[in-house]
Amino acid sequence: MTPAPYNQSVAIVDDNTDRTSALAQCTDLKLIEAAPQWSGGTAKPDNSRFTNYRFTLAWIENKLTLQDHSKKSVVSVCIDFTQGRALHRLKFGGGHGQELARAIKTREHPLVCDATAGLGRDAFVIASLGCEVVLLEQSAIVHALLQDAITRATIHTETAAIAERMALYHSNSTLLPDNWPHHLLPDVVYLDPMYPDGKRTAKKEIQALRSLLEPARAATDTVQSNGVESDTKDYETALLQAARSTAKRVVVKRPRKAPPLADTAPSGNITSPNTRYDIYSSKTSCYLPSL
Ligand SMILES: C[S@@+](CC[C@H](N)C(=O)[O-])C[C@H]1O[C@@H](n2cnc3c(N)ncnc32)[C@H](O)[C@@H]1O
Repeated sequence: MTPAPYNQSVAIVDDNTDRTSALAQCTDLKLIEAAPQWSGGTAKPDNSRFTNYRFTLAWIENKLTLQDHSKKSVVSVCIDFTQGRALHRLKFGGGHGQELARAIKTREHPLVCDATAGLGRDAFVIASLGCEVVLLEQSAIVHALLQDAITRATIHTETAAIAERMALYHSNSTLLPDNWPHHLLPDVVYLDPMYPDGKRTAKKEIQALRSLLEPARAATDTVQSNGVESDTKDYETALLQAARSTAKRVVVKRPRKAPPLADTAPSGNITSPNTRYDIYSSKTSCYLPSL
């Protein structure tokens, strides 16, 4: 059998700063030395030390950046709310009238739990419409990328107030509501779990992220495994149940034609050309917390 050219592992490029050693400590990842000729660009570093790692994390131009070295040219993933797509959507995204906002009911300024935070794009939109958002992310690496972006956004005039409304935790949402970190329960839980059959046409950054997260997802897919399909179903059921036990309103983002999460019919939905927001609402959440 031909060995895979890369394993799925991730290493941190050491720049001898405190923030890098702190990152290594909280992610439990190995520190490696940067190639002397590598400046963090997209050109593949000519350094055999990198070939053992499919992914590296490094601060490039002061932004924590994940790089996938498995392709001919390096694919970089970093989050920046202060420019580009995030800022454009802030100005021209449609405000409270856009589908995501209508599903969340942002006009009522609910306390929102984004239980699958990812790159934080949806949470940023929700926070920009005046809602407090508690973000939960299970991957230590994605959590680190997102925390770095939120911290940078707090010192940018256009995004500071929005970033102040975003509180991020490294946490597994299937453990909700027991591990809920805020003193008030959320009014809405928002879920956007990765859809298993992601399009091959997805942007390179999303494909890289998917490759990074798939093994972690497989590891959290638990219970009575009769194969990947049943694992996925069990995972979806656990996630939806946890969300519905935590808030009266749960919103799930799905590709427009995809089946509902855990094959559980929602009470309603709001659709846009490519996306469907399934809404599960009940008079009470099932959980009575001892707060
Ligand atoms: C499709 S991405 C979410 C994208 C996000 N809505 C955005 O706007 O950027 C899904 C994310 O959910 C995270 N995730 C999946 N299951 C989770 C769980 N049980 N608890 C916390 N995070 C989870 C994954 O690690 C991944 O980062």
